[in-house]
Amino acid sequence: MARRVVIKQGRRKKKKRKKQQEQPKRVDKCLVAWAGDLAAARCVNDFISRTGCKAIVETGTYKGATTAWFTTFGLPVHTIEKNHEFISVARARLAGIPNATVHEGSSADVLGSIIGELPRPVLFFLDAHWEDYWPLQDELRIIAEGGHSDACLIVHDCLVPGRSDLKGDISKGVTLNIEMIRDAIAAIYNGSFHVSYNEASPAHVPGILFVEPSP
Ligand SMILES: C[S@@+](CC[C@H](N)C(=O)[O-])C[C@H]1O[C@@H](n2cnc3c(N)ncnc32)[C@H](O)[C@@H]1O
Repeated sequence: MARRVVIKQGRRKKKKRKKQQEQPKRVDKCLVAWAGDLAAARCVNDFISRTGCKAIVETGTYKGATTAWFTTFGLPVHTIEKNHEFISVARARLAGIPNATVHEGSSADVLGSIIGELPRPVLFFLDAHWEDYWPLQDELRIIAEGGHSDACLIVHDCLVPGRSDLKGDISKGVTLNIEMIRDAIAAIYNGSFHVSYNEASPAHVPGILFVEPSP
């Protein structure tokens, strides 16, 4: 009798392990990439599927967690980081992932050198900050100068209207919000674009601004 129970438990464990293996990798990884914010991961997932982007560029790699998550879409992923120590960590993490390219340098400079080579439309995930120089305005200017009016943008750490519990990045005492970058975004899309946010996210996670060409 006891033997039969052991066998049943073994089967149950095997079944559970099989079910875990069947979970899409992207969901597993979002626990690291989006700090456990499944709603944000879902938003980005839907955005990428809906907009049909052909390449992803991330500015601000840090340790490559979100880069790794982006590679699961099977698109070419370029990530740009200026801090040499973070570059080493990210390169180790992304080694052997053929669709990931790690660029060392300041985001605006590197963007300028690769932007003409990318399959379009491009999704730009703009997340380079933490330093005195905040490159966001320059990144947006380079995207506009590159003529990427079909691009999609995700701006991380941006205030979300009506959700004061979501976090925005603060630079020199100012918290990032769309008004600070509206003109630079308008220059990319010749004035007409559509914005949305991660409104379904739980409290106290970063706000995320999504921008795409007007339908
Ligand atoms: C918030 S972290 C990026 C997090 C990463 N995208 C992720 O999801 O895991 C910001 C990164 O931007 C980098 N950074 C700051 N200024 C930069 C610049 N001008 N060019 C490239 N990277 C920059 C910082 O070194 C830091 O690693």
